[in-house]
Amino acid sequence: MAERIAIYPGTFDPMTNGHVSIVRRSLDIFDRVIVAVAKYSGKNPLFSLEERVKMIKEVFHADNRIIVESFSGLLVEYVESRKVNTIIRGLRAVSDFEYEFQMALMNRKLNPKIHTVFMMTDYKWLYISSTIIKEVARLNGSIDGLVPDPILRWIRNKLLEI
Ligand code: COA
Repeated sequence: MAERIAIYPGTFDPMTNGHVSIVRRSLDIFDRVIVAVAKYSGKNPLFSLEERVKMIKEVFHADNRIIVESFSGLLVEYVESRKVNTIIRGLRAVSDFEYEFQMALMNRKLNPKIHTVFMMTDYKWLYISSTIIKEVARLNGSIDGLVPDPILRWIRNKLLEI
């Protein structure tokens, strides 16, 4: 049987334990997951594209079922170029729904052969986002246990730089 591969796209500025949980749970359904780090997402990231790819690779280095790449341009075009037809997105709360619904429908309009699969975020990560993690870290609050250890080091080093 052909390998089942899904693409999990995002800005990941930075990746949190909520994202990690979605990647790991996706591997219960798919043989491989490509974590696709977006160059363009309408956000102004703290970490460069290269840094985000590097830090996510550190998180998943022990699992060769997880591939980390960057992409630019339209998500559906990138997904098509990788010969994959499934996009994974996580949903935290009702507030995520409208944005995700809009994006899924637009992607479907652009390429009806590509499907978006939603996974509910684990309740433990319902309240976190990359923005809130960065804000708490900037104000010297503890973000222990909310991001993987390699990401914690990257955040600490970045805050020393700025
Ligand atoms: N647990 C905790 N937090 C989560 C989470 C989870 N499971 N899933 C998402 N989040 C948070 C993220 O931390 C992030 O927080 P932030 O807004 O504070 O940064 C937010 O939810 C959403 O981020 P993320 O999952 O990284 O995705 P995104 O919305 O930044 O990514 C793209 C959007 C990249 C998929 C989209 O912009 C895109 O496809 N861009 C390419 C261009 C394109 O094709 N545009 C047309 C799209 S229709």
